[in-house]
Amino acid sequence: MTATATPPAGSLLTAHDLRKAYGPTTALDGASFSIHPGEVVAVMGPSGSGKSTLLHCLAGIVTPDSGSITYSGREMATMNDSQRSALRRSEFGFVFQFGQLVPELTCVENVALPLRLNGTSRKEAERAALTWMERLEVDGLKGKRPGEVSGGQGQRVAVARALVTNPRVLFADEPTGALDSLNGERVMELLTEAARSTNAAVVLVTHEARVAAYSDREVVVRDGKSRDMERIV
Ligand SMILES: Nc1ncnc2c1ncn2[C@@H]1O[C@H](COP(=O)(O)OP(=O)(O)OP(=O)(O)O)[C@@H](O)[C@H]1O
Ligand SMILES: [Mg+2]
Repeated sequence: MTATATPPAGSLLTAHDLRKAYGPTTALDGASFSIHPGEVVAVMGPSGSGKSTLLHCLAGIVTPDSGSITYSGREMATMNDSQRSALRRSEFGFVFQFGQLVPELTCVENVALPLRLNGTSRKEAERAALTWMERLEVDGLKGKRPGEVSGGQGQRVAVARALVTNPRVLFADEPTGALDSLNGERVMELLTEAARSTNAAVVLVTHEARVAAYSDREVVVRDGKSRDMERIV
């Protein structure tokens, strides 16, 4: 595996003093964040505190009103829409609460999809997809459609799809939110194992302490402001 342009000791993704309002609602009120390659950071906090907004800003999906976000030394605000979407496609992976698999496609086609969209041939994309499905222990489901698999299996397929492009950052927003605790733990075990094996950074939004326990570090978001867990007394 080759190293990225980021020095090993440096942050891969950094946000400073982010502010974002939706009309009269303040979603972020001076939130900051940073993550190193290979690090798993849990973003915790009450409902409505700004966790998803922070994740969407970090991923270049939402543009903050002010503040700066730097990815691998590049300021996001200087990128245009197509540069930002190219970054999302090639460097970032996403897993959401409900896997958001394409119902008409089989599981292996779903996992192969990001590679197909990047121009990889079907054969090669499905071969890579199957490797990831084996790691997430869902290769037996390759020919099934999302409606024919369980919630936990579907989330593992979604994790395989998020990792198939070998992203540098995996964004996961409540990836186990719809699962029972046993399935949730299995998804987290496999997700963190897979991310660590490729040195991907993981931004993990969760309400649950037992999910956050899989992280290296916890950040709490409250009223749009972020803090490292240790600083909260
Ligand atoms: N697109 C939007 N339009 C209007 N208000 C929004 C939008 N997105 C978020 N908000 C508001 O911003 C605040 C922060 O929302 P956010 O989704 O970031 O919270 P959260 O911490 O992820 O909550 P949850 O744990 O319930 O997912 C909330 O008050 C929410 O209602
Ligand atoms: Mg949310």
